[in-house]
Amino acid sequence: MISKKSVQEILETARVEEVVGDFVNLKRRGVNLIGLCPFHNEKTPSFTVSPGKNIYKCFGCGKAGDPAKFLMEHESYTFPEALRYLAKKYGLEIEEEVRTEEDEEAQRVEDSLFILNDFAKKHYAGQLFETDTGKSVGLRYFKDRGFREETIRKFDLGFAPNQRDVFTQKARDAGFEPEYLRQLGLTTEHGRDFFRDRVMFTIHNLTGKPVAFAGRILNSTAKAPKYINSPESEIYHKSRILYGAYFAQRAMRQQDECILVEGYTDVISLHQGGIENVVASSGTSLTVEQVRLIRRFTPNIKILYDGDEAGKKAALRGLDIALEQDMNVRVVLLPEKEDPDSYLQQVGATAFQEYIEEQSKDFILFKTQVLATDAGADPVRKTALIKDIVASIALIPDPIKRSLYIKECASIVEVGEEVLINELNAQVRRLLGKRRQEKEREERAAQRQEDHEAVETQTVEKPKVATSSELVRHRYEREIARILIASGGQIFDKEEQITVAEFILSHIEEELAAFESPIYRKVAELCLDLLLDKTPLSTNYFLQHEEESIRNLAIELIHSPYEFSPGWEEREIYLTTQKAPELNYVQESVEAVDRLKYEKIEKLMEQNQQLLQEARSETAPEEILRRMKIHHKLLEQKALLAKRLGLVVGPRKG
Ligand code: UTP
Ligand code: MN
Repeated sequence: MISKKSVQEILETARVEEVVGDFVNLKRRGVNLIGLCPFHNEKTPSFTVSPGKNIYKCFGCGKAGDPAKFLMEHESYTFPEALRYLAKKYGLEIEEEVRTEEDEEAQRVEDSLFILNDFAKKHYAGQLFETDTGKSVGLRYFKDRGFREETIRKFDLGFAPNQRDVFTQKARDAGFEPEYLRQLGLTTEHGRDFFRDRVMFTIHNLTGKPVAFAGRILNSTAKAPKYINSPESEIYHKSRILYGAYFAQRAMRQQDECILVEGYTDVISLHQGGIENVVASSGTSLTVEQVRLIRRFTPNIKILYDGDEAGKKAALRGLDIALEQDMNVRVVLLPEKEDPDSYLQQVGATAFQEYIEEQSKDFILFKTQVLATDAGADPVRKTALIKDIVASIALIPDPIKRSLYIKECASIVEVGEEVLINELNAQVRRLLGKRRQEKEREERAAQRQEDHEAVETQTVEKPKVATSSELVRHRYEREIARILIASGGQIFDKEEQITVAEFILSHIEEELAAFESPIYRKVAELCLDLLLDKTPLSTNYFLQHEEESIRNLAIELIHSPYEFSPGWEEREIYLTTQKAPELNYVQESVEAVDRLKYEKIEKLMEQNQQLLQEARSETAPEEILRRMKIHHKLLEQKALLAKRLGLVVGPRKG
């Protein structure tokens, strides 16, 4: 484990513009640098890197963070991986803390499993190339399918003969533990070889290590399944692996596109034909982890489907996950009765490439066209179709992209744009509600977990985001914290020489104890401490704070001026252009303080109202009078604040 001291040192050394600059083409714009956002597709740059604050932020998709966060998002690194990358980049020595016994043990087991799989891989290859049966059956099979020897070797293909336990025996003789053999699924419970009489495909992880195997049956009339696979194990998590990804990484990045096919043989065939940016989901539907894996290399994905009715249906389904991850999805239908492997072998690589180039269609437009043709003029079916299409569009996180799709789809379906927009609004609202619920559930679960086990984790903690009901209550506190972090050190009033933090805190100091959220209160208290110490306040102070929760909060809050206005989520659809925030912290501070006061007055009025009720029921005339006077005083102040805040004071609900 990396020591705390090292973590600190690395985070302080890493320069955001240098780290991001290795992946994104940045241009200077004033004090900041800007570029095209690597997390969503855009034509005009809204991705901003602030060397001063040492953070990046995209005003289009909202992704933001420090150098380590960037690597975690862009390269799908874990926090420790990101730190190691940065340490290497900056030539920093990493101080390791002593690992626990369990860590060591886990690592040993993992190493052993990889070593064993490697042994198995070599065994299957040996059987293929060096035994008579292997050559006459296995190698023959691959060659008949058009795989060249170099391809066979590159992909670590192999052969498992129809024998009881050749492999298991050999592995035991070599000293491998039976327990590990079973865990990797290489040996059955009865001590036999799991893979028998099959040609073998090695499944690699992103670093090229063998994590699992698939065995394809040779005798296609047999009742056994066509492919059998290694089970999940400590080193093989099916949902996180894409077949071929190890060989496709560079090409995916270079071509800025990932071609997704269904089968092992499709990947190998295309690769051999020079189309190397190809991976397979291995017969299952895409998982979030798999889409994120692809996203590490490119946001563009092209999915190849068989050209029959089933393929067409499949093309309409199951891509939600990719859309939700803001991928640009295109689909290609192959000619009838062909899969990528067979079609490429038939027409050759060049024609194949031309075909998928020409035939590829934007997924949403493709879906709209297919459904629109099916529905014809039938109004009932057309309504269903609109819901269906809009359901896909609603998943796209980028509002600009959403509105473009609305335009195009409206013209395909031949309805007015507003019809789709109305439906979209309804669906986005539903979706946001659903996500909020999920988030709340997750948070409650996380909280419970936290309460139960105070275990130190290696991964970065997510910033504590308030649940929706809390959000309303904490909105004002959050806004205060945001201003303090983002511009607390700025001058509020030149003549009086006071800072934003001084202004805010002088107005809310006595309110602090009543803050409902400990983390926002903590921010305010930290500011107070600094003011008392006469230490200048800066955003960096929070970004580099020793407490991770403070660091994360700072990153999260630093550029989120839109969160404050109520209903922003619903309105987001129309928010197609976002301006960078102006330097309007003076106005913001006044408003935030006013809001907090306003909120407090409302609370006081509520309390007063209750006491008034009680006084009335007890018929205590003096107390009634007193309460009514207080009520009017409060009402006056409330009206004053409301006017300043531009609010309309109406009759209170409830
Ligand atoms: P296919 O049946 O299209 O196989 O299944 P394929 O890869 O094209 O193989 P060939 O060309 O017939 O030799 C597509 C993918 O679905 C998964 C495999 O990942 C396969 O590559 N699959 C299929 C299984 O996992 N198990 C099966 O029994 C069948
Ligand atoms: Mn096939």
